Amino acid sequence: MFDASIYKNRRLRLKEKMQNGLVLILGNGEAPANYTDNTYKFRQDSSFLYFFGLNMPGFAGVIDIDSGEEYLFGNDVDMDDIIWMGPQPLVKELAARVGVVHSAPFAQLAVCLKTAIAQGRRIHYLPPYRYRNVLLLEDLLGIHSAFVKEYASLELIQAVVALRSVKEACEIEEITKACNIGYEMHTAAMRNCKPGVKEQYIAGLIEGIAASYGSMVSFPVILSQHGETLHNHDHSQLLQEGRLMLTDAGAEAESNYCSDFTRTIPVGGKFTSRQKEVYNVVLACNNKAIEIAKPGVTYQYVHLEICKVLAQGLKDLELMKGNVEEAVAAGAHALFMPHGLGHMMGLDVHDMEDLGQIYVGYDDETRPINQFGTSSLRMGRRLQEGFVITDEPGCYFIPALIDQWREQGMHKEFLNYDKIETFKDFGGIRIEDDILIIPGGSRFLGDKRTPVTVEEIETFMGA
Ligand code: GLY
Ligand code: MN
Repeated sequence: MFDASIYKNRRLRLKEKMQNGLVLILGNGEAPANYTDNTYKFRQDSSFLYFFGLNMPGFAGVIDIDSGEEYLFGNDVDMDDIIWMGPQPLVKELAARVGVVHSAPFAQLAVCLKTAIAQGRRIHYLPPYRYRNVLLLEDLLGIHSAFVKEYASLELIQAVVALRSVKEACEIEEITKACNIGYEMHTAAMRNCKPGVKEQYIAGLIEGIAASYGSMVSFPVILSQHGETLHNHDHSQLLQEGRLMLTDAGAEAESNYCSDFTRTIPVGGKFTSRQKEVYNVVLACNNKAIEIAKPGVTYQYVHLEICKVLAQGLKDLELMKGNVEEAVAAGAHALFMPHGLGHMMGLDVHDMEDLGQIYVGYDDETRPINQFGTSSLRMGRRLQEGFVITDEPGCYFIPALIDQWREQGMHKEFLNYDKIETFKDFGGIRIEDDILIIPGGSRFLGDKRTPVTVEEIETFMGA
């Protein structure tokens, strides 16, 4: 947890951005896994963490925009809780830790909100993503659960996105810690990527590293020799010499700030020449993004520029043909990279995705491009100093997609289908780093960059 002044300042800035009414920020409750008392590891709501800092279930925060008063609602523990969980601080002590003066039992939240509603005051809340909070909002506000999401406050969403998008120095420190755990995870994967090892063993090993240094993984580990399946959670295969292993994994620091890295490495430690050629094209895309990402350019522009690097590289390998600019404008490259270059990252690995991607990654100026591949770009808008984003180009050979496009004659003026056919057993490559936008450019996050060039990876794996 940060110092109370950080949370006070964030709430103050939120108040400055809002017109009037009450802001309600719900924390999360425990989530049962297979019976009530056997819960998933607790994960606090990220906006609650951002404004109220407390990483424990059963709380809600209210900010009165008109009076400026702030309230924390939650229940003090009883003797039964003390017997099972040990002594716990009082709610008023927890409130003081994050600079909140007023606290009350959770049941008082309903009274507070009903009084405000009776006075005709607006209650601003964020879109809930857990059913518990959907039902809680139905109870508290009298809005049918089917409409709760729709009535979330756009004014509040936009204010929260504006604040959370620009990371403070203390947040960069926490993200750096998460990145350093990510380094440990990916280098452990490299050390263990040997023929005969089961994918699940490495997936579990690196999940354990995340848990041992921090809080947990920032999303379920993606690790597979079938890297062409973008989010592959099947870890059932034994590693085979000559294949590539794609690992997309990150950690949450104890503070819940995230990292998210991808490395694609050769089982046994040596790339084949064909793997090397494609790998270097993807690496050139990754490097291009870091070279041109800076305050004032849109990430949509950066995405389209790296797509040109991809198309040029694949043209050099005779997998694509024709004019590169025209191929990218037409969307032909998306056969190989059907996803976007990256996303915001912070307290969520896809930061603030619960608030609506369109508000996080886009604005009135930059709108999504409705074309296969580029339409999956989560972050398109103009970059500002303090943004943390991922740089994750990829190149995949997806047999079913290749077959479909070939049958339909898709972009045949730009695609060498006969050669592409011979890559159907290739798999996929993605290379992902986390970057911070700084004055005039961007920089990698993490104290050390995980081995990324062919030479660095082969040297590391051979050591
Ligand atoms: N690294 C997983 C994702 O960005 O979706
Ligand atoms: Mn990512």
